[in-house]
Amino acid sequence: MERTHSAGPALGAPAVRLEGMAKVTGTARYAFEHTPAGAAYAWPVAATVPCGRVTEVHVNEALSEPGAVAVLTHVNAPRLGECEDPILWVLQDDRVPHRGWCVALAVADTPEAACAMAAAVRVEYETWEPDTVLTADHPGLYACEEANGGAVGSRERGDFDASYGSAPVRIDATYTMGALHNHPMEPHAATAEWQGGALTVHDSSQGATTVQRMLAPLFGLEEERVTVISEHVGGGFGAKGTPRPQVVLAAMAARHTGRPVKLALPRAHMACAVGHRAPTIQRVRLGAGEDGVITALAHEVVTQTSKVKEFVEQAAVPARTMYTSPNSRTTHRVAALDVPTPSWMRAPGEASGMYALESAMDELAERAGLDPVELRVRNEPEVEPDSGKPFSSRQLIAALREGARRFGWYERDPRPRSRREGRLLIGTGVASSTYPVLMTASRAEARTEPGDVFRVRVNATDIGTGARTVLAQVAADALDVPLDRVSIDIGSSSLPAAPLAGGSSGTASWGWAVDKACRALRARLDEFGGEVPAAGLTAVADTSAELEKEAASPYAKHSFGAQFAEVQVDVDSGEARVRRLLGVFAAGRILNSRTAHSQFIGGMTMGLGMALLEGSTLDPVFGDFAERDLASYHVPACADLPRMEAHWLDEDDGRLNPMGSKGIGEIGIVGTAAAIGNAVYHATGVRFRELPLHPDRILAGLGRST
Ligand code: MOS
Repeated sequence: MERTHSAGPALGAPAVRLEGMAKVTGTARYAFEHTPAGAAYAWPVAATVPCGRVTEVHVNEALSEPGAVAVLTHVNAPRLGECEDPILWVLQDDRVPHRGWCVALAVADTPEAACAMAAAVRVEYETWEPDTVLTADHPGLYACEEANGGAVGSRERGDFDASYGSAPVRIDATYTMGALHNHPMEPHAATAEWQGGALTVHDSSQGATTVQRMLAPLFGLEEERVTVISEHVGGGFGAKGTPRPQVVLAAMAARHTGRPVKLALPRAHMACAVGHRAPTIQRVRLGAGEDGVITALAHEVVTQTSKVKEFVEQAAVPARTMYTSPNSRTTHRVAALDVPTPSWMRAPGEASGMYALESAMDELAERAGLDPVELRVRNEPEVEPDSGKPFSSRQLIAALREGARRFGWYERDPRPRSRREGRLLIGTGVASSTYPVLMTASRAEARTEPGDVFRVRVNATDIGTGARTVLAQVAADALDVPLDRVSIDIGSSSLPAAPLAGGSSGTASWGWAVDKACRALRARLDEFGGEVPAAGLTAVADTSAELEKEAASPYAKHSFGAQFAEVQVDVDSGEARVRRLLGVFAAGRILNSRTAHSQFIGGMTMGLGMALLEGSTLDPVFGDFAERDLASYHVPACADLPRMEAHWLDEDDGRLNPMGSKGIGEIGIVGTAAAIGNAVYHATGVRFRELPLHPDRILAGLGRST
């Protein structure tokens, strides 16, 4: 498919969020803010043991609390039907696969009473010794067939061992990081109501179509009998990508009690109930010539999953795309432990994998005596190394050069620990970014009536990204009308079915269907000489055929970017702070300059958190995370943030979709942590290979005691 874009005036413009006023004035309703008449409140009871089985649940004390309605346990809870995701299989048996697993659900007239009841439920367990600690030689490690996203678990090209063994310049480094948690501002919440045999839920989700499709078989219903509404969502970052237990528990409790039920997961339960980025141990080996050109590249990932299901952080996958590597080995090995189940977190795979690869590239640059930007220029591949496919567009080098120019990169003295201001060591670092272009088939509908605006309907989800607004812009240009002539409806399974907001694929996937529906409507309108007939006009679109063709594309499609950081490290306190962060991204056509800027800055902020602040500590005795609130799990606050700049390069890639967009939700986090880590090395002269770079770790590295 080759296209040229006939850009209308709406796309690219900094249109303000259509729901912005509703959000800042508090009239936008989130899942827990819908209160059907007679609603009761549910509070989960989380397992307190690392693993085992429930032998007895004592509920009498809880049921004597004022306002008590019911306690659901695996004995009395409604039986669930088929389930493709075992994390939703709650209160069906006595298993406790990990600490924090839901073992009972208290239901009461008020949230306070439900909380008190949950505390009064007494659970007896049979337990056994848990297996909770991941090591690079854990006996349970196995090579997975598929990593997250369907990527092949292990790939081998050429002869890595021979090539690495004879390379004159070599790096062999292992990078580790603990778990990271998504912790969206809005907790996972659902309000469920049964009417007759039909179920309606307001769920905080990244995709109501997916929730509907998975709830229906669980409750033995036709999909038409399940309505899922996710009109406003306060962040997700992957944690709400597929249904989470709260929606199943709320629906079960509503069926059990005969009342509508509201359930918001307590923040403390989110650490184990809704997924996280899995810990990784990543060994990267790079073999290069004296000129820095890589001849051998190995990226070997060790990670963990739970005993509930296999999820493998696909951290070695970006190494298959980034650099010249005639001999390559990229592998994922995983151990299933008695721990909570990991899942998607913003740029799963790329965020963790590019931390390791881009740190190793920095080490290679130093060993080869090359500037880190120049090293990447020398390793720019002609085609995607692993697939041999040409890139639809790839502006990594242009992004690095533009970033270097804007940042003033070449003003640096490349020698480590060469810049000092009193107690502060100053350094700069760079890293590359990448994220694949993903798209899924979607439906959409466009309709108009005489004297009315154009009404576009699609079950897209706006998790805070600006998706609603950008889809209206897509519609306006496809219809060739001003933006204020378009009205858009998203966030309900009663709308045309659409994929979830994930994999940075939403705008491209939904937008393609919206564009198609609107162009079809415009063609119909032309048939009527531009006059809307009395009965109105409707056009529906489905992009299944387009996406089938797309899947067979001969091109490798990815976004690229460059991240630059300046840090200061206090030699007395060990505190590293970022002074400047600058990203340049090449991500296809940017469809809304205001919300896109916000996405890039947001991703970079999350990358700063990953580098310096965020980290979940797995308690080896309990197999559960120690950080259970936003005081101990420190996401960046405004005071942590430096001057941040996000820029982008214009790209006109006609091989993507009608809008020419690549997706921007995730690339901002990719490479940020490596750029900051490389800057900390440049500042201190000490290589830290474990995240986050907390003061105690830095002080120890500097040879200072805490
Ligand atoms: Mo995103 S982690 O693909 O929801």
